[in-house]
Amino acid sequence: MSVMLLLNGPNLGILGQREPEIYGTETLADIEKAVAEEVSGAGWEVRSIQRESEGELVSAIHEHRLSSVGAIVNPGALMIAGWSLRDALAAYPQPWVEVHLSNVWAREQFRHESVIAPLAGGVVVGLGAFGYRLGARALLHLTGADK
Ligand code: DQA
Repeated sequence: MSVMLLLNGPNLGILGQREPEIYGTETLADIEKAVAEEVSGAGWEVRSIQRESEGELVSAIHEHRLSSVGAIVNPGALMIAGWSLRDALAAYPQPWVEVHLSNVWAREQFRHESVIAPLAGGVVVGLGAFGYRLGARALLHLTGADK
């Protein structure tokens, strides 16, 4: 069975309780289930990794560099200055998609730039938890698994 990575950065483990007016009421477990539903038809298994620190995400990317088919990445606030996350993703040889629950463009200025976005296969922004489903579909498309 092929493994896809679902990577979530700091503060995304408390989804559902965290500023629900911005991030919604769905939990990370709900999102994991939704993504698994989207990719199960392709025979993919979801490996979900949420970490509060950048270094642990970098290690997770290294660990799964060659054993995963692609990734969905919500970097959280690491979007702003997560340069080592950016470099780990630059060395990640499979397609990956960036997802943000909130519409970062409609929020504070410091959220208007993502250091990882220029490397992403695509970016989904502002569609809440549904954005992860779209990210999963995009990944199936980018890898050719939807053919
Ligand atoms: C976020 C947006 C980031 O700016 C913020 O720091 C997060 C969540 C989102 O999914 O909307 O932690 O990535």
